[in-house]
Amino acid sequence: MKPIIAPSLLSADFAHLAREIEMINRSDADWLHIDVMDGVFVPNISMGFPVLKPVAELSEKPLDVHLMIVQPEKFIDEVKALGAHTMNVHYEACPHLHRVIQQIREAGMEPVVTINPATPVALLSDIIRDVDMVLVMSVNPGFGGQQFIEHTLEKVRQLRRLIDETGSKALIEVDGGVNLETGARLVAAGADVLVAGNAVFRSPNPTETIHALKNLR
Ligand code: DX5
Ligand code: ZN
Repeated sequence: MKPIIAPSLLSADFAHLAREIEMINRSDADWLHIDVMDGVFVPNISMGFPVLKPVAELSEKPLDVHLMIVQPEKFIDEVKALGAHTMNVHYEACPHLHRVIQQIREAGMEPVVTINPATPVALLSDIIRDVDMVLVMSVNPGFGGQQFIEHTLEKVRQLRRLIDETGSKALIEVDGGVNLETGARLVAAGADVLVAGNAVFRSPNPTETIHALKNLR
């Protein structure tokens, strides 16, 4: 199975967002990954709903919305209004994760739980059957262009085992420092979905890089 490729808009040229989204629309990308930050859960602020509305209108690819914010449940309606495919909330930001996951599903989106580099895969055992995907952070969230944390490969293998043992249908997504080299190793370890920011948008030919990521095996 070829991996699902989700370029991360965070690394795009924000002065020419429409042009960047049109490039994604014409590429082999499967989804468009959107990073929302609040300056509280992570030490950075990215883009909010007034910017994301035109982004959503221009994108022909399903939106994979990654919320690096506290109390993400407050924004289920706003994310839904974008027409998002997935809503990714952090394990570390949700004391009542089971409720939030249910609310996202009731809103008609696919619920995704995201774990930071220091959060063990084993903590997902009681929620793994309820989510459509797990996003494993392979950098500390907040910024594009960081170095891939090698231990992520072991976490992906652990997660693959947990999913197989429990009969969960969850996909495994990885975000942070993904390029052709780390991407190949992640796919071999069991990753289904690769998010890539800098590797795509800072490459000489983003369309070709997306094509190459799509054909990793
Ligand atoms: C980081 C974001 C990522 C980021 C990845 O906190 O969640 O989606 O855009 O960027 P790269 O691929 O450059 O590490
Ligand atoms: Zn992200």
